[in-house]
Amino acid sequence: MAEVVLKNVRKVFEKSVVAVDDVNIEIRDREFVVLVGPSGCGKSTTLRMIAGLEEISSGEIYIDGLLVNDIQPKDRDIAMVFQNYALYPHMTVYGNMAFGLKLKNYPKDEIDARVREAAEILGIEDLLERKPKALSGGQRQRVAVGRAIVRKPKVFLFDEPLSNLDAKLRLQMRTEISKLHTRLGATMVYVTHDQVEAMTMGDRIVVMKDGRVHQVDAPLDLYNRPVNQFVAGFIGSPSMNFITGRLQPDGDGLAFDEGHLRLPLPSSLVSALAAHRGQDVVLGIRPEDIHAPETVNPGVVTVPVSARVEVVEPTGAEVLLYLTTGTSSFVARVDPQHMPVVDQQVELAVAVAKARFFDPQTQLSLLR
Ligand SMILES: Nc1ncnc2c1ncn2[C@@H]1O[C@H](COP(=O)(O)OP(=O)(O)O)[C@@H](O)[C@H]1O
Ligand SMILES: [Mg+2]
Repeated sequence: MAEVVLKNVRKVFEKSVVAVDDVNIEIRDREFVVLVGPSGCGKSTTLRMIAGLEEISSGEIYIDGLLVNDIQPKDRDIAMVFQNYALYPHMTVYGNMAFGLKLKNYPKDEIDARVREAAEILGIEDLLERKPKALSGGQRQRVAVGRAIVRKPKVFLFDEPLSNLDAKLRLQMRTEISKLHTRLGATMVYVTHDQVEAMTMGDRIVVMKDGRVHQVDAPLDLYNRPVNQFVAGFIGSPSMNFITGRLQPDGDGLAFDEGHLRLPLPSSLVSALAAHRGQDVVLGIRPEDIHAPETVNPGVVTVPVSARVEVVEPTGAEVLLYLTTGTSSFVARVDPQHMPVVDQQVELAVAVAKARFFDPQTQLSLLR
């Protein structure tokens, strides 16, 4: 069992830089948790505090039920993999992987067995006698992961381990690390600024900004029910569209009115938003929830919208349309057979039940 619990954890660097502020996270045994957020939001500092490489200013960290605030990094039973690999250049791959175990005086044949097992898991058996400089970036990253595996730690910590790899290799290593998690059944905490990496790898995702945790949730819950506008905009690419308008009475119901654009809301949203009748709100709608009318799936309730095309971006599998109502700009992701030209006025269908609503002042979600 290796849960990792952070209670009211705070880190203030000298010159009173608050890097991490009142962070509470409960990572379950064997869970793969991703910390994600923009650069400088405190991800690495949080991870380094779990590792013991950074002292915490206040709060408590527990690993496997044990308060580790005053426990040395080497005694925490964790292993960390960094972006820059941090391999010893003068040692072979074998030497690099064996080094930590040698320091701990493990018997030679135990070390050998563990190094060979890790090498087999990672498919680097043929590289054991090479020096790091004779390896590709992807191979070096595998060695860095191997060095963590041989220690059989309770908890693996990864700090942007794939950032130095090219796009294709990054995809491949992403899958390998996910498989490794399944195979080892270990608790893993993984830091990245890349929301796609977070969405595809995490059992749960911790979204951070400015040293604070904004939301902790499973990927699709995060995607479908963001707690605020920051999370809504950070997760998903292209980002969710945000359009400012007012909730106007519409018969017995409500309509979102932007000036040029008026969306009558389905009854589920009308009851959820009843308290905000007459108020200014921010509507959030994802690009994939705006369709070309003829491609709407049966059963999906949509509202027609007219907009002018500003930019057309074909990506192959789909087309991104950058549009304006005259007041607001937004992006639609439509099927590739729809290729309007710039300045064309197009009719679109908005899957209005998928819309989210936010308070323009607090940016908090008005929906559960
Ligand atoms: N050793 C340090 N001294 C002072 N400020 C630091 C130090 N390390 C990090 N910071 C600051 O703490 C904040 C969080 O940094 P970091 O945890 O590295 O962010 P992330 O990993 O999310 O990019 C940043 O504002 C950064 O400048
Ligand atoms: Mg970092």
